[in-house]
Amino acid sequence: MRCFGLAEITESRHPDFKKGDKVMGLTGLQEYAVIPSHHPHSFQKLPSVPFLSDTNFLGTLGVNGLTAYFGLLDIGKPRPGETLVVSAAAGATGSIVGQIGRIHGCRVVGITGTDEKCKWIKDELGFDAAINYKQPDWKLELAAATPKGIDINFENVGGPVMEAVLDRMNLHGRVVLCGLISGYTLQQPTLSSFGRIIIKRLRVEGFLILDYAAKFMEAGKQIGTWKIMGKIKDRQTIVKGFEKAPEAINMLFSGANIGKLIVEL
Ligand SMILES: NC(=O)c1ccc[n+]([C@@H]2O[C@H](COP(=O)([O-])OP(=O)(O)OC[C@H]3O[C@@H](n4cnc5c(N)ncnc54)[C@H](OP(=O)(O)O)[C@@H]3O)[C@@H](O)[C@H]2O)c1
Repeated sequence: MRCFGLAEITESRHPDFKKGDKVMGLTGLQEYAVIPSHHPHSFQKLPSVPFLSDTNFLGTLGVNGLTAYFGLLDIGKPRPGETLVVSAAAGATGSIVGQIGRIHGCRVVGITGTDEKCKWIKDELGFDAAINYKQPDWKLELAAATPKGIDINFENVGGPVMEAVLDRMNLHGRVVLCGLISGYTLQQPTLSSFGRIIIKRLRVEGFLILDYAAKFMEAGKQIGTWKIMGKIKDRQTIVKGFEKAPEAINMLFSGANIGKLIVEL
């Protein structure tokens, strides 16, 4: 299965890579990978940076942090005082989005699926409010947490969660369409009503993180600086064992992960 990972070189005939080097790239979900020498750029040596762990390069300084950074700053364009709502807010991407929103002076409200996750994003990550969408009165709580409406929706989930957020968007708000995970396991994913988008004159923009590859280094430096300064905190859920990989992947859909989900082989 295609996936991004960290690996250690066990044998090499490439002059730039030697036994023992740690690398990151498209390893695939497997114990060993043979990388053709004409694909050297698909793997990079892992930098050794004080205060950062190797696994930070999978989440906060990897795909998820970069997705949060470009999605929020390039598409969401946050301004101080605006209200930002992010879904899957205790996940690898959402947890970083909220913290970057706080750094840019937004009021940040996270939506997530357990009280434990709500507590983490509010008490430790500094979100202004956290809503558990599995509680019956969550839409009332969302209304109370967004008294001035919502200016930016960073959408990771779609479906009923997104519908409720769109209902509270301000005129000319921005919707960063990052992911629609609630629909990934459905035969017929529910589409949000386009009527709300017209009535509220919303700007809705989807993106794929690979489009920003040329700017990864610039963003990585900024995210790394925030992380070292303690302005960005993160968590990882590590599942050990190849045989547990299918179970681990399903955790993304059941919500059993907090922060970056990693399978260690
Ligand atoms: N556009 C891009 O280039 C790009 C790049 C990376 C990721 N993404 C997208 O970003 C989103 C987050 O990805 P991630 O890797 O950071 O995963 P993640 O947020 O760490 O994990 C997924 C979380 O989604 C929530 N979820 C799952 N099913 C749900 C449902 N039916 N309703 C509401 N919430 C649900 C769960 O948390 P709760 O407990 O809160 O329910 C789960 O923990 C995904 O949609 C992914 O496709 C997009």
